[in-house]
Formats: sequence, C-alpha cells, structure tokens
Amino acid sequence: MRKPIIAGNWKMNKTPSEATALVQELKPLVKEANCDVVVCVPAVDIPAVKQAVRGSKIKVGAQNVHFAASGAYTGELSAAMLKETGVDYVIIGHSERRQYFGETDATVNQRVLAAVKAGLKVILCVGEKKEEREAGYTDALVEYQTLIALTGLEPNDVKNIIIAYEPVWAIGTGLTATDEQANETIGVIRAALARKYGKAIANKVRIQYGGSMKPGNVKGLMAQPEIDGGLIGGASLKAADFAAIVNYDK
Ligand code: 13P
Repeated sequence: MRKPIIAGNWKMNKTPSEATALVQELKPLVKEANCDVVVCVPAVDIPAVKQAVRGSKIKVGAQNVHFAASGAYTGELSAAMLKETGVDYVIIGHSERRQYFGETDATVNQRVLAAVKAGLKVILCVGEKKEEREAGYTDALVEYQTLIALTGLEPNDVKNIIIAYEPVWAIGTGLTATDEQANETIGVIRAALARKYGKAIANKVRIQYGGSMKPGNVKGLMAQPEIDGGLIGGASLKAADFAAIVNYDK
C-alpha cells in the first residue's frame, strides 16, 4: 500500500555536464519503474539535471537546506531558493552532515520545518554508529533522532516526510545491515511515529533503508515488509547499477 521510493544520493560527485550525461544514460533504463525515482544532486547541478530529466519520471532533490529564510549565512541555501529551482525533495540530517559539519538533532529539526514550510518533501536520515549498535542503543537512538527531527511538525505535514534509516557503519563500507536488522529497526521507527501521530499516519510514512544498497542485495531488503525503498550512495553514480536497484521488482 506504500509506493516504494528509490533515491540516489550523489553526495559531492558529478559536475553539471557529468550530471547531464548520467541522467541521459539513466532515463531509458528507468522508464518502466514501478517505484518513485529521485536523484539528490549537488546544488550547482540542479538546473542541468532538471533540464535532463524532462520527459521522464525521475524527480530531483537537493542534499541539504539551511533553516533560516535568508540572512548572513555565507555558503548556505534557503528552502525558498531550492524550491524555486524546481526540486521536489531535500535530504536532511545525513550522517555525513552530522559527522563532518556539526549538524545536530536540533538544527536538523529546524531544517525539516523550514523545508516543509517551503513545500519541499524531506528525506530525513537517521541511524546509529557501530559502537551505538554494539552497546544496544540502536532503538532508543533512532526513535530519539526521528522524534526530535519532527518536533513541531503538524500531523498533516507528516505526508511530506520520508525517513531514511541509514546505519552509519553501513555507509560506503560495503557492510549492509541484514534484511532482518534493517526491517526491525525501521519497525522501531514506525512504532515511534505511531505513538506520536497514530497508526493511520505512521502506516503511510515511507521509510527507506540506506547503506551499501546494491543490485545484489536490493531484492532481499525490499522483500521486508517495513522497508519502502532505498537511499543509494555509491551505486547511484552508475546508471546501470542504479537502474537495476530501481527495477528490483522485475
Ligand atoms: P552508500 O550507498 O555509498 O553506502 O551510501 C549510502 C548513503 O549514505 C546514502 O545517503
């Protein structure tokens, strides 16, 4: 009943001309996709990618957004700026932003509110580090990250939130959570949403898995009842690999 959503997170890869070439290669390969398909690209690539995706079902997203409407924040981009470029989605709270750029649960929350207010759909990233999993904190941590990030959000706006469960130890490492681990933790996130917003709303939220998702492991992950899609890093940079993930059900 939840339509799967497969999104690529290109991270800091591809110049505008390289981005155009990748999208042109991808377009015919994902024509028959049964899921929603998104590419989250570097901000300077957005105009080129918006142009390149024309006539396809591929939607475009950004990789971060600032929380203020405007002001003295050198180097940052507001939600209104992104919205006007025509992106539909924005990733917020990626573990790389948290780890390398000092983003906190509190600023992630502010970014979520700003993005939703501007009419963007949010891909909110949560996930535990290796030592946190080993210490048994995974469930408490992902619940906390999710609920703080959504503080102040109207129940009616929850439909604009997609959550990506990305265990930090699985990102770019070739290690993946097992199908069962990913399903279980995503279930914990959904249960937290149900406690806060009620079951009807929680059951509609799409929750992706991310972390070394590839053509070879997508089927098993997507067969899990709680997993509604993927957020793909490395494998989204190759058209054939990303298309194979998008077409997992064929
Ligand atoms: P990889 O697919 O490269 O592990 O990256 C996952 C990720 O961080 C997506 O946001």
